[in-house]
Amino acid sequence: MTEARAHRLAGGAPVAPVAPAPAARPALPSPGRRGADPAAAEEFIRLFHAEHPGAGRPGRRLAEVRASIAEHGTYRHTLAELAFGARVAWRNSKKCIGRLYWKSLSVRDCRHVTTPLGMYLHCVSHLRLTFNGGRIRPMVTVFPPAGPDGAGPRIHNEQLVRYAGYRRPDATVIGDPSSVALTDAAGAAGWHGGRGTAFDPLPLLIETPEAGLRVFDLPPEVVRNVPIEHPTLPWFGELGLRWYAVPAVADMTLEIGGIHYTAAPFNGWYMGTEIGARNLADVDRYDMLPEIAGRMRLDTSGDHTLWKDRALVELNVAVLWSYRRAGVAITDHHTESSRFLLHIRREERQGRRVPADWSWIVPPMSAATTAVFHRYYDETDLRPNYLREHER
Ligand code: ARG
Repeated sequence: MTEARAHRLAGGAPVAPVAPAPAARPALPSPGRRGADPAAAEEFIRLFHAEHPGAGRPGRRLAEVRASIAEHGTYRHTLAELAFGARVAWRNSKKCIGRLYWKSLSVRDCRHVTTPLGMYLHCVSHLRLTFNGGRIRPMVTVFPPAGPDGAGPRIHNEQLVRYAGYRRPDATVIGDPSSVALTDAAGAAGWHGGRGTAFDPLPLLIETPEAGLRVFDLPPEVVRNVPIEHPTLPWFGELGLRWYAVPAVADMTLEIGGIHYTAAPFNGWYMGTEIGARNLADVDRYDMLPEIAGRMRLDTSGDHTLWKDRALVELNVAVLWSYRRAGVAITDHHTESSRFLLHIRREERQGRRVPADWSWIVPPMSAATTAVFHRYYDETDLRPNYLREHER
């Protein structure tokens, strides 16, 4: 154990705002782009004007954007374009069942924030603002885009809040097994580790082309956690389960009109199954079903007794009940299925298609009890969108 870790376990101050990386990597892996794609830019500007009749015809703006790309390899979105682009990127997200409220996304323009410390501070304020006393506000914070060379700032964390996964010598993991690589990377970059519980928030790993990689602990008060208990099974709380309030995806690139915002963390609120049927249930995540089934005294002698299914339902009841009790926004998969079909009807009335990926839209439990199961979807890829590195 390191000294700092021992100090921490002994109750020492947990927050180290800045730990410099041992040796900063050169620049970010650059896809070797030559600036913004003029065709993508043009398509977006036309879309913006088509959906904003008040903004007039696109001619002047198109000429301006073309000239800027010719001269500088890129162009700058107006605030209205940025907000619209970020919202439409959500509207176009094929994996998301929660798109009914796409117009209500709050867009924070942080294109002026260029240092890792500045980005960290704005991620912290993002978490504060989005929580909103539990009535979570869908929100995106947009940092500077990649330049014409393709290099841009990055948040390495999958989400702003995520629990560490500590690999033990016997190859088992304390915490979230999906976080082992990032937990190791944080350690290599100077992080001293958390308290060693199964639910230690990870620090943020933020990298810019100029400053390299930096590591920052989140102030504990912005990491809102919900202890998981069950409305009728008193022992459930003894499992010591919890999950965080805000699912803020941080490692995707927001692409708008050929501009790549490589750091643009965004969030809505949770659907219960993400936590109860995946994060806490998957065999390669927290794998809680065997223990829950044991406490329920189910017959686990064979798959045919459906002990996993019965444990799964109680875990999901517990998640939804606990978030509601804590006053933290959450939704269930039946409600969200109806809302999504309403969203499709509304969009189609506007003459728009709603691209969707069946395998992501259909919830991971009780699939056929939800209406989204019983149909197929348009699978087109549209822009703007939120993309993973390999999709760019
Ligand atoms: N599925 C991810 C998780 O369980 C979160 C993805 C975004 N989810 C959302 N409801 N906005 O952490």
